[in-house]
Amino acid sequence: MSNLTVVNHPLVQHKLSIMRDVDTSTGSFRRLLREISLLLCYEVTRDLKMTTKTIETPMQKMEAPTLAGKKLVFASILRAGNGLLEGMLDLVPSARVAHVGLYRNHETLEAVEYYFKAPEDLGDRLVIVVDPMLATANSATAAIEKLKERGATNIRFLCLLAAPEGVAAFQKSQPDVPIFTAAIDERLNEKGYIMPGLGDAGDRMYGTK
Ligand code: PRP
Ligand code: URA
Repeated sequence: MSNLTVVNHPLVQHKLSIMRDVDTSTGSFRRLLREISLLLCYEVTRDLKMTTKTIETPMQKMEAPTLAGKKLVFASILRAGNGLLEGMLDLVPSARVAHVGLYRNHETLEAVEYYFKAPEDLGDRLVIVVDPMLATANSATAAIEKLKERGATNIRFLCLLAAPEGVAAFQKSQPDVPIFTAAIDERLNEKGYIMPGLGDAGDRMYGTK
């Protein structure tokens, strides 16, 4: 599969295994997601463009490397995207944030939008869309299409777990958007859940079930 990065760093994989465990508490699940998001953020930003600026250290002047271009946008697909968003903002505190409110209709598995708020100048920025789960890819696709409608052209998608079916559907509809994930699981079940997966990410993060 092209345009796809699986982040198989040992710390990511170890933490993900703890998150998958049904006996992991809500608090631990949230903490681990935040920790993993730092490591995933490191990977998804690895090739950001750099420039230099002149600064003065206590010793002398130097041309110091800094990030080039406008601030990043992190677009969180609610609710569960916020679990990745918070850690990413720890690492890139100046990033702008978009929120895309979507839930899956449990019968049709279609994404239903209930909220959208994003910075105006999406076209000038790299937009990193975050959601822990890529199952059918309906939610990620709906979010990205909305962001594209609002002008975004340079987009990456970051998740924790993906189903092979979701990766294929996503790559078909969004061939210009690279995917970064910590793992690609075996399959989707008949209800659209990732197997073996980790269950419902939002419910596990917020203890709603
Ligand atoms: C989950 C998850 C994704 C979506 C993935 O959200 O956080 O947004 O399902 O499934 P898909 O690829 O089949 O669209 P959910 O709809 O459960 O909403 P929540 O985050 O509010 O719990
Ligand atoms: N959304 C989730 O939270 N978990 C899944 O396994 C699939 C979609």
